[in-house]
This record gives sequence, C-alpha cells and structure tokens, in this order.
Amino acid sequence: MKPIDLLQRYCQGNEALLEVLTVHSRKVADKALKLAAKHPELNLDLKFVEEAALLHDIGIVRCNAPSIHCYGEYPYVCHGYLGADILRSEGLPQHALVAERHTGTGLQHDYIVEQGLPLPLDRLYEPVSLEEQLICYADKYYSKTHLYEEKSPERVEASLEKWGDASAERFRAWRKIFD
Ligand SMILES: [Fe+2]
Repeated sequence: MKPIDLLQRYCQGNEALLEVLTVHSRKVADKALKLAAKHPELNLDLKFVEEAALLHDIGIVRCNAPSIHCYGEYPYVCHGYLGADILRSEGLPQHALVAERHTGTGLQHDYIVEQGLPLPLDRLYEPVSLEEQLICYADKYYSKTHLYEEKSPERVEASLEKWGDASAERFRAWRKIFD
C-alpha cells in the first residue's frame, strides 16, 4: 500500500486538493517521524506512523471547504470519521483510527453532544495508542491554508481554544511526552 496512490485516487480530477493534501500530510508525517526519532524509548511503529500520517486527512475529499478546494457535501468537522470510513473500506482499520481520532486534540463524547457536532456518537474520537496521539499532536502544528508554515506551540494553543479548555491542556501534556 502506497499512501500517495490512495491520495491520488481519492483526489482524482482535483489537482489543487491533491496538492493541499500531499503537502500538509507530508509535513505532519515528517514532524511525527522527527519526534519519534527523539524518543526511541517509546518504541513507536515508524512505518505505521508515516503511512497513517500521510492518510489522516483523506476524509476532506468528502467535505465542503472551497477555500482549500474541497467540494464534497459534508461539514468539515466530519473529515475524521469520513476518512476512517474510506480507510476501512481500503482494508486499513488501524490507519482509520488515526483519522477518526485526530480532530483538535481528540473530541470528548460530552463535548460533541454539548456542541451538537454532526458526528456519529457510536465511535470514539480521542486518540488512544501512542502513534494515534503522536500524529494528532504533530498535525496541530500545520494548517491547510498556510501549508509550509510550522506554528509555534503558543500559536497552536491559541488555535485550540475553539475546542474547549481541555484541548490546550492535552496539547501541553503531549509536549512533555513528545517534544
Ligand atoms: Fe491534518
């Protein structure tokens, strides 16, 4: 399985979206691999980290976000679980979990209900394995609008405010583990 082949297949006919997805995902994969290299004691599965980081955002192809060339029908917040559905259909159930659990620093069930987010409630949206946590963490440093720019930790924290107080706290805890 070559992640880039999958991204190409799902972006067929939309080169601009393929560019966003490949650049962003490569940035996240490189950041995650760099952090993993700093922590051999964590025994992370590096092949999996790279593949799953490259695929974590594939669900954006089904979402509506014209500013980043997405012309699907779903709200953007759905891209995690939609990506998971795609990856399960491709026989990649472990990679699917990374996609499903990477929004914000993970979304708690109560938060989803309170905010009325349009997500199926029969799933878990918080990263569990260390690989899931690492990719979610690395992802927070990059946006899809400024593809080549790495945010400072302070800017990441500010950008997490929209997901509630617990989110920035989680990010700070990850910084201690992974950075
Ligand atoms: Fe991402």
